Amino acid sequence: MINYLYILASLSLFHTALGAVAAAPGPQNGTDTTAVHLVNRNVFGERVVSLNVTNKEQFAIQLPESDDTDIDTSKTFGHSPRVWYSHGNTTNGQETLAQDFFSTSATSKEGGKNGAGFVQLAGCINLGKAPQLNPSDKGGFYHDTPGDQAEDLQRSRCEGYTHFVECVQPRNRQFILRCCNDKEDCPTPSGSQKCSDVLSGSYGTCSEART
Ligand SMILES: *[C@@H]1O[C@H](CO)[C@@H](O)[C@H](O)[C@H]1NC(C)=O
Ligand SMILES: *[C@@H]1O[C@H](CO)[C@@H](O)[C@H](O)[C@H]1NC(C)=O
Ligand SMILES: *[C@@H]1O[C@H](CO)[C@@H](O)[C@H](O)[C@H]1NC(C)=O
Repeated sequence: MINYLYILASLSLFHTALGAVAAAPGPQNGTDTTAVHLVNRNVFGERVVSLNVTNKEQFAIQLPESDDTDIDTSKTFGHSPRVWYSHGNTTNGQETLAQDFFSTSATSKEGGKNGAGFVQLAGCINLGKAPQLNPSDKGGFYHDTPGDQAEDLQRSRCEGYTHFVECVQPRNRQFILRCCNDKEDCPTPSGSQKCSDVLSGSYGTCSEART
């Protein structure tokens, strides 16, 4: 049955239909912590990121699926970002990141503009431990809003929240994953804005030197 569903979910027509169902809001702002998801893509073909606000070492984030790939390239046709786990279960085919993927990081929970609440994980990427990234890439973002260049990204979500934005800027080493209930709390940086210009957080001091 699972295999059958998985095959169905692999067909793009079913992707669209199932994706619409799966995109229904999950638990609202009630959860402080979010479960680290079991598979890279579930039977609905979704890509589920998560973070645990009480444990900054436990997270699942999107990154390019192959080495040395620009964020914007990873969102174009023929490419695909994938979910990478802080503590992957290799039996389930989960990809595990290096333990020191971040040189500094912090999580927080905040009220947000209209009080709906959001959680985030911000930090400096340790580029020496991030082979997926191109160190000179100015970076970009992943989110769950239709209208981005890849329809594929519309099947992304953050566990337990209705919206998310993930800003990844290898060149200045900034990273943030923010999961929101109010779209206003999850804006996407544009042009030459740094992640931290738009999504404030405790990133630490992200020097540009590769470590
Ligand atoms: C969700 O957020 C609203 C608005 O701030 C708040 O009134 C409500 O208590 C929150 N719900 C939970 C379960 O925390
Ligand atoms: C989040 O981290 C805390 C502290 O390590 C742990 O007790 C809790 O079980 C974690 N939550 C999830 C959903 O894994
Ligand atoms: C890893 O995945 C396998 C296969 O689904 C499962 O049996 C096992 O319990 C998982 N391990 C952990 C630690 O979750």
